[in-house]
Amino acid sequence: MTTARELSADELAAGGNAPEQRTTSRKRSQWPERALKYASITWFLAAALGQWIFVFYVALQYIPVLAQTGLPGLENTSLPDGYVPGDTLGNLSIAFHVMVAIVIIGSGPLQLTPQIRNRFPTFHRYVGRAYIALASLTSAAGLYLVWTRGVPGGMAGYIGISLDAALIMLFGGLAMYYAIKRKFVQHRRWAMRLFMVVSAVWFFRIGMMFWFMTTGGIGINPETFEGPFITFVYFGQMAVPLLFLETYFFAQKSKKPAVKSGAALLIFAAAVATLIGVFAASLGMWFPRIL
Ligand code: HEM
Repeated sequence: MTTARELSADELAAGGNAPEQRTTSRKRSQWPERALKYASITWFLAAALGQWIFVFYVALQYIPVLAQTGLPGLENTSLPDGYVPGDTLGNLSIAFHVMVAIVIIGSGPLQLTPQIRNRFPTFHRYVGRAYIALASLTSAAGLYLVWTRGVPGGMAGYIGISLDAALIMLFGGLAMYYAIKRKFVQHRRWAMRLFMVVSAVWFFRIGMMFWFMTTGGIGINPETFEGPFITFVYFGQMAVPLLFLETYFFAQKSKKPAVKSGAALLIFAAAVATLIGVFAASLGMWFPRIL
């Protein structure tokens, strides 16, 4: 008879089962872990694709007009108050804001790709510093624009987008602080939170277009661009992605397969919703403006 003392540590961990049974139970216990990993990769790829389409649109919409006609060219874009004669600081702010968007939205997914981070650490470090500095500066420019030129959507718009600017500066500072302290677990978490709040403007656009496509725009007054859904989306553009991200962190740490599987399902559903939103924003908003 086999006694507990004769079993190896692995066998004890597997409850003293035969090798085939151990392999099967290990595979079974790895399944939720893998599901979580693949669901998050799926969401990340959907988001990267959608963000690069947005970058493509911003580049084609703003670079040619700025290069050919300078700041007055902003009048011929889709921006509500793109060019205001006499307001040089405001006009420069909006030009800076859209040019920086190309750099930060374009580089964000690269910063979160582990293969790039591990193989090119110097690239990651320099792009990371530029990302944090530019995201904070462009948020300051955005704040100036919001509070001098206004924003659609009423007070929810003013408060929601200003809160986003504050979170970008706070999370950027924390991501940088933990990188300097070489506390990479905390750095990774704050950098991912930063990515979510920097991407809020993109979430806003795909969220709006998803809503129009699936409901026809319930909760939005088309005349004033105000209403319960607009209020929700001005705060949800940060709150919803951050909530999903915290769920992902929680599930990663959890030992319970049910928690991992549940989070995997949720993130997979988010990937599908993201793809629908990207599809709707590309065909309904971005491509018609540039093609
Ligand atoms: C840091 C992340 C941000 C990025 C990448 C970004 C990007 C952009 C882009 C690409 C546009 C042009 C929109 C279009 O053509 O559809 C835009 C417009 C604008 N952004 Fe930002 N933005 C960011 C954050 C902010 C913040 C934090 C504020 C305010 C506090 C802000 C205020 C504005 C305003 C007022 C406009 C013009 C009006 C509008 O289109 O809503 N942005 N932004």
